[in-house]
Amino acid sequence: MGNFANNLRLYFGIFRRVGYTLTLGMLNEKRRDNLLSLYNYYESQNKTQDITPIDPFIIPKTDVFELFGDDKAKYEGVYECGFGHTTEFELKVISNLVRKLNPDKIFEIGTFQGRTTLNMALNTHSNAKITTLDLPSEGLSSTAMEIEEGEVRYVKKDVSGERFIGHPMANKIQQVFGDSATYSFEEYKNSIDLAFIDGSHAYDYVLNDSKKVLSIMRPGGLIIWHDYTNWEGVWTALNELYKSDPKYKNIKHIGGTSIAILEV
Ligand SMILES: C[S@@+](CC[C@H](N)C(=O)[O-])C[C@H]1O[C@@H](n2cnc3c(N)ncnc32)[C@H](O)[C@@H]1O
Repeated sequence: MGNFANNLRLYFGIFRRVGYTLTLGMLNEKRRDNLLSLYNYYESQNKTQDITPIDPFIIPKTDVFELFGDDKAKYEGVYECGFGHTTEFELKVISNLVRKLNPDKIFEIGTFQGRTTLNMALNTHSNAKITTLDLPSEGLSSTAMEIEEGEVRYVKKDVSGERFIGHPMANKIQQVFGDSATYSFEEYKNSIDLAFIDGSHAYDYVLNDSKKVLSIMRPGGLIIWHDYTNWEGVWTALNELYKSDPKYKNIKHIGGTSIAILEV
């Protein structure tokens, strides 16, 4: 009975205060602030219930510190991060991966200016060979699959590989041209130690490139994809491979980057 009386007093007190706040209390700034705080509180509660977080990046993360300790790699043009480039940090991660793996043969899809090609070359031994495939500007209108509208500007350029042309590292680099969907990868079968996939970011191309590249890797080799978190075509294709094809079940996304890797 005592409790009931106490609760009744409490509820009556609340009604009286709420009644006052919603009428005469509206003239009082402090009361108005209290009402606003209450409103904001309920709004935020509703929002947290309504919004389902969407994180399409389902591939488990690895950390750059899990992959290597000290940064001993060499760089050039690392701070020049214009459109179409890897970020400074990503270039360091790739350079360190190359250094750690010490590959004899590298294959890259998507040369662009050759900034990553050059930095991979800088971190390989003197006999290493890097083959980099690029779609030439004149091939833009006749690709076997559709490329993304937003990447036309990377294809349209006067020179492919301008960063390494004439550079002392250029003797390690072989440029080849074509559409990755129709290019013959036959001669590289089971021979590539490290591959960098950064050509078209369209879903069909990412699937095509991932499969073609897997066929040229030697066991123990490393595939690196760029732009996993930047282009929907890339994350959709990689998520699908990760979920449905056992050959890709060990893909890892390197935290703090848009890079995904797979040790074959
Ligand atoms: C984002 S850029 C590559 C950037 C470069 N890997 C780097 O790290 O600086 C994409 C490149 O892929 C090339 N590309 C686009 N579609 C291609 C295709 N179907 N086959 C081969 N290369 C393609 C473009 O010409 C462009 O040079």
